[in-house]
Amino acid sequence: MSESFRKEVIGNCELWLGDCMKILPLLSDVDVTFTSPPYNMGLVPGGNGRGMYRPGARNKGGRFRDGYGIHSDALPQEEYDAWQRDCLRLMYKFSRLAVFYNHRPRVEHGKIRVPLSFDYGIPLRQIIIWDRGTGIDVNLRAFCTRQEWVMLFAKPEFALCDHSSSGRGDVWRFPPEFNRTGHPAPFPVSLPLAAIESVADAETILDPFMGSGTTGVACVKLGRRFIGIEIEERYFDIACRRIEEAYRQPDFFVSPPETKPEQLILVQEAPNER
Ligand SMILES: C[S@@+](CC[C@H](N)C(=O)[O-])C[C@H]1O[C@@H](n2cnc3c(N)ncnc32)[C@H](O)[C@@H]1O
Repeated sequence: MSESFRKEVIGNCELWLGDCMKILPLLSDVDVTFTSPPYNMGLVPGGNGRGMYRPGARNKGGRFRDGYGIHSDALPQEEYDAWQRDCLRLMYKFSRLAVFYNHRPRVEHGKIRVPLSFDYGIPLRQIIIWDRGTGIDVNLRAFCTRQEWVMLFAKPEFALCDHSSSGRGDVWRFPPEFNRTGHPAPFPVSLPLAAIESVADAETILDPFMGSGTTGVACVKLGRRFIGIEIEERYFDIACRRIEEAYRQPDFFVSPPETKPEQLILVQEAPNER
């Protein structure tokens, strides 16, 4: 029996409510995917070793305490990894140029846990460090984490727009999102915006874990087509509202920077490493 899904079209953005694994195969190909999946924080021991993000814990975990509503964010780790590998493979299959996948390493039971244990099944080209400049897990067992990763999985057709895009470097300093979007874990608009505007011929962008629609807002600002998928209706509605608001903003299109950093003059053609 076929399932039907709610779909909203706002300008050049198409927003789907439902499970991305079911909806993705119904869509046509996109150029680039930029996304941040749930991190499976539900059962992570926290700074005091007593289950900081444990669902239902009374005074720990703050806004992450109850996961993402429909998605509890507390799968057995192996199940989570297998699910995310499947998601990644599907996103890669439907993306003509590249997938940008935001995740983060964390210290768990005294050891580092790297996203999906570096086992992706698709070619990882680069890890961009997102330096958030601030962190919350201050404790005596490890230095406080201030960075996340944006992992770039690229296809042979992938290219950056120009040398100044490459000169942006692989450490991106953007503060976390401080505006209250109503979502517990939004990334800042500047993060997807930096990635999307750097890729040549990135006209249609997908975010299958859209949350509050931040990637969509970046697409509106850049004048790109956007397809977003979100499973939780509360966040889906927030995404619709934010994208409508973005279309009403006066800075509808972001103009290119007027001056280029001096260091870019030194950038030379790199040998083709593909
Ligand atoms: C880390 S959040 C994304 C936040 C987003 N980048 C933003 O700026 O608001 C991950 C989102 O994935 C959603 N999600 C979880 N499982 C999903 C699924 N199977 N299909 C689609 N969305 C899902 C969660 O509800 C959550 O909103």
